[in-house]
Amino acid sequence: MLHVDPLGSLGGGNGATLWDSAQVLSRFLLAEPALVRGRRVLELGAGVGLCSRVAAALGAKEVVATERGIALPLLGRNAGAGRGAGAGCGVEARLLDWADGRAAERVVEEGRFDVVLGSDLVFGSNGDVHGSLAELLKKLLGRPGAVCVLAHERRDESVDEAFFGLLKDGGLVEREVEREDDGIRLVVLEGAAPAPAPAAPPPADPPPAITPAQAIRDAGLLLKKVVRLRGTASYVDLPAGRIDLSEGGAKVVVSLAQAGVEGGVEEGAEVLVEGRVMKKARRTFFEASAVIEVKRPT
Ligand SMILES: C[S@@+](CC[C@H](N)C(=O)[O-])C[C@H]1O[C@@H](n2cnc3c(N)ncnc32)[C@H](O)[C@@H]1O
Repeated sequence: MLHVDPLGSLGGGNGATLWDSAQVLSRFLLAEPALVRGRRVLELGAGVGLCSRVAAALGAKEVVATERGIALPLLGRNAGAGRGAGAGCGVEARLLDWADGRAAERVVEEGRFDVVLGSDLVFGSNGDVHGSLAELLKKLLGRPGAVCVLAHERRDESVDEAFFGLLKDGGLVEREVEREDDGIRLVVLEGAAPAPAPAAPPPADPPPAITPAQAIRDAGLLLKKVVRLRGTASYVDLPAGRIDLSEGGAKVVVSLAQAGVEGGVEEGAEVLVEGRVMKKARRTFFEASAVIEVKRPT
């Protein structure tokens, strides 16, 4: 059972009546129960609380119905009346005036509402809070995956344009799901699509094939000039370092200090590697007496 108070003695103001938009939104939820099932639902300006009660009955995980102070007693009564009425999680009635920035911030900080509902929240006589409401929606929909369903009665085109313009300017994406003959629009709002992740950097070019005429590296020196090889080998062991060779290329890793090269080697030097290619068992290598000779650039 749902209490209404059209004369306003209980709830006062327009929150004491069940408005057409709430019925349109409730019908939409009944047709799309997956939207609220298992989710945390927050209703703004819930009035007598029909949409919240419907969301709870459809299997929402949690429903918080909010109102400004004047309408809260009746909403609280209706929320409480839903408890123990069968299926559903129950509805918590809570004070939330959109104009109260700190209260709105607290709800946003809870950061847990997946679905925000609102029916007939925007009309000419509450223009002073349209900005706060738009701001609140924007923040609530900043939560990834959160959606808002608004049932909006079209009464004044300029009011509608201004309010939905605020939402759009706030980056919210609006999708109209239904436009009823009696002038009630149902829109689903979502936060702006997250910016695409920065493109992965293109894969680094594969290192160029190393030829015998390329690098010698030691602990501190990198030489990129000519390495002349006498003989061919696929793997070479030197007491002074290590040389990996193949027919088509070579990577020479020599500790120049160990090889007895005084004073380092300038870039551009020619490095001559000589030795005997030996084959032992399945391994080919230079004999240990290999000569490493450095010709300095002229
Ligand atoms: C036309 S009624 C709609 C009530 C209900 N959603 C329905 O559709 O039946 C507008 C609702 O917005 C609420 N409202 C207006 N200004 C508000 C504010 N600053 N903060 C919270 N609720 C507000 C009113 O209390 C009222 O319940």
